[in-house]
Amino acid sequence: KPVRHELAGAASHTSGRARKGNSLREAIERETDRPMAKLGWLASLAAAVVVVVTLRSPLAAAQLRPGYYASICPNLETIVRNSVRQSMAQSQISAGATLRLFFHDCAVRGCDASIMIVNSNGDDEWRSPDDQSLKPQGFQTVLDAKAAVDKDPQCRYKVSCADILALAARESVVQSGGPNYQVELGRYDGKVSTKSSVVLPHVDFNLDKLNAFFSGLGLSQTDMIALSGGHTIGVTHCDKFVRRLYTFKGARPQYSPPMNLAFLRQMRGTCPLNYSPTTVAMLDAVTPNKFDNGYYQTLQQQKGLLSSDQVLFADRRSRATVNHFAANQTAFFDAFVAAMAKLGRIGVKTAGSDAEIRRVCTKVN
Ligand code: HEM
Ligand SMILES: *[C@@H]1O[C@H](CO)[C@@H](O)[C@H](O)[C@H]1NC(C)=O
Repeated sequence: KPVRHELAGAASHTSGRARKGNSLREAIERETDRPMAKLGWLASLAAAVVVVVTLRSPLAAAQLRPGYYASICPNLETIVRNSVRQSMAQSQISAGATLRLFFHDCAVRGCDASIMIVNSNGDDEWRSPDDQSLKPQGFQTVLDAKAAVDKDPQCRYKVSCADILALAARESVVQSGGPNYQVELGRYDGKVSTKSSVVLPHVDFNLDKLNAFFSGLGLSQTDMIALSGGHTIGVTHCDKFVRRLYTFKGARPQYSPPMNLAFLRQMRGTCPLNYSPTTVAMLDAVTPNKFDNGYYQTLQQQKGLLSSDQVLFADRRSRATVNHFAANQTAFFDAFVAAMAKLGRIGVKTAGSDAEIRRVCTKVN
């Protein structure tokens, strides 16, 4: 019987099959007592203080290497590649969902697949407000790849969920038209997942806050700008940018980088004041589903939906890098690959009491 993530399972109650992002929000609103439709933009306003936990672990990271499973599970990369291809054929949004899942895993407690753990007491990362917009398709892509890996008797229970997630993220990039790159492997899975450990960047962060967050992970401003290029695929819900479209009475005035006026009017059509909580818009208005440098051109045209994206062009200190990536896709791809390697080394765990190879990605052994 195939394993399903609780999130995917909950979504399937309403949709039959977790193909659309729509059912996720319904699932989340049943799961939690904080309906995001109402609290979304207020919640991001409330994100005043940034706490950055340093997760750098140079000793463990030094042991990662691309050939880690060469004798343990020689067909690993082919198995994951084919499985992700199937997931992407089933759902157009699975690539973006998987790439984002990798970021949300690595940035919290390191790349240890802790984001996938479902705790029976309800205290786990994916149920935190910041992870509520993660889509079930990302979880399902990893669960399906894990099932495919474990079907091979040589590989069964020998490949960590953290490594499968790292490989699935790479495949999501490559199979969307992005750069191919080697993935360092040898991560162990963590055993702990709690709501309170989730600290992630918010859409109202200015450049200084974005830099502070990423430097806490050992990443530079250039890494941050390159990784934000992950927004070249995928979508955002209206609640993440509706504050930039209207003036809300009584709301604390807040800086919003300039938006192209025709585009702003168009987005008011997409997200009216009584927008549906399931409505989404593409993060890259230029080339929505293709992994390319269209995201940076979107920012140059001032069509970035998230304030945290558009600020990269609005702030003089980061604009040159945006212009560079917009003009030269090879430069973006090179920087993205380098930054993904750094992201993939954050807080890596090796064999020991605090880590294991999980048999079921949603459960500690
Ligand atoms: C720089 C700070 C970042 C902020 C503030 C941020 C914020 C967001 C937000 C608000 C969304 C839309 C969620 C929704 O409404 O459904 C989103 C989507 C996404 N993010 Fe980020 N993000 C950041 C960095 C990253 C990084 C580093 C990556 C990976 C390299 C990434 C990958 C994605 C992807 C692929 C999506 C689309 C997800 C989907 O379509 O389901 N983001 N991000
Ligand atoms: C684009 O960037 C690449 C990689 O940094 C570099 O080798 C190449 O010369 C650049 N191309 C142009 C036209 O500037």
